[in-house]
Amino acid sequence: MRAEGIDVVSFGAGEPDFNTPQPIIDEAVAALNEGFTKYTPSAGIKELREAICAKLLRENKLNYSPEQIVVSCGAKHSLYNAMQVLLNPGDEVILLAPYWMTYADQVVLAGGVPKVIKCLAEEGFVPTYDQLREAITPKTRAIVINSPSNPSGALLPRHTLKEIGALALRNGFWIIADEIYERLIYGYEFESIAALGKDVQDQTVTIGGCSKSYAMTGWRIGFAAAPLPVAKAMSNFQDQVTSNPTSFAQRGAVKAFGLPAESVEAMRAEFESRRDLIVGLLTAIPGVKIDPPKGAFYAFPDISALLKPGETDLDLAGELLEKALVAVVPGSVFEGSGHVRLSYATSRTNIEKGVGRIAKFFADRA
Ligand SMILES: Cc1ncc(COP(=O)(O)O)c(C=O)c1O
Repeated sequence: MRAEGIDVVSFGAGEPDFNTPQPIIDEAVAALNEGFTKYTPSAGIKELREAICAKLLRENKLNYSPEQIVVSCGAKHSLYNAMQVLLNPGDEVILLAPYWMTYADQVVLAGGVPKVIKCLAEEGFVPTYDQLREAITPKTRAIVINSPSNPSGALLPRHTLKEIGALALRNGFWIIADEIYERLIYGYEFESIAALGKDVQDQTVTIGGCSKSYAMTGWRIGFAAAPLPVAKAMSNFQDQVTSNPTSFAQRGAVKAFGLPAESVEAMRAEFESRRDLIVGLLTAIPGVKIDPPKGAFYAFPDISALLKPGETDLDLAGELLEKALVAVVPGSVFEGSGHVRLSYATSRTNIEKGVGRIAKFFADRA
């Protein structure tokens, strides 16, 4: 529609609208000029794996050695490697809906079976202990957690992390902790599940990266931190698939992971004020329900009260695009029907304009 000159406001983007911080760019440019353009070890250069270990110790209270780190082409690639080496055909993986749809597809690609827990908006999209317990079967091989979450912005509280850790230990399954949004958090403290104790860390694959925290989505650098045998298996697997992530992007990432948290504070603070803006505007629309998301950069309002009989969130997203010229992602995509996802990684002007159009759309059809 945009190509046809139609003025669509998009809330679809899953990436920061800021540029990568200049010191990171400078480092990659320097690497290129130095001729750092050849193959590197498949799991990433030692300097980067050391920088990731230092970051994990400093910010996440996690002790890993560089041999336990595998650098990949984005956190998505790290997750894929983890699924491929951990799952056997028929293994069940617990997913907490609403979830980022890639998890389910990656589980299936590895021959596994997604076992979905539907987390309720009323519970802050946090699973209850009973839900977790009831999802476990003899075939459970892993659980994926993503806190802060795409699409809900939910944060798993400490007591839930402890429950998940205890259940994983008791039942012998893996925890795949996708912490890609760890820096984008509003008024809460981030805690890595693996930091609960050495026993939990020994059953956890921690996934992270610089895509969201440092506005580096196009650089394609992510990592996994895992017990040594798993890290080795992931590294061997990657060796036969992609080899190393791009050499000079790795050099940029060394710089990124070495930057103090304060260096991206302005970006985090801007997201927080946009969150407040979008939540305020959405709440003012009669029938829309939303609690302020605690992290990431997505609003995931419940719009079920505004659906016509027989209408789904997929239909509504189509209508909003056609009639209001606003792009949102239907909640069903994330197994969160009755909701829509709006990314607030867009300017305040766009937020005001886009949510204004949504408000008018609902007022006109009321
Ligand atoms: C929850 C979640 N995990 C991982 C990723 C992928 O990150 P990367 O760009 O580093 O592959 C995304 C990107 O949208 C995401 O939303």
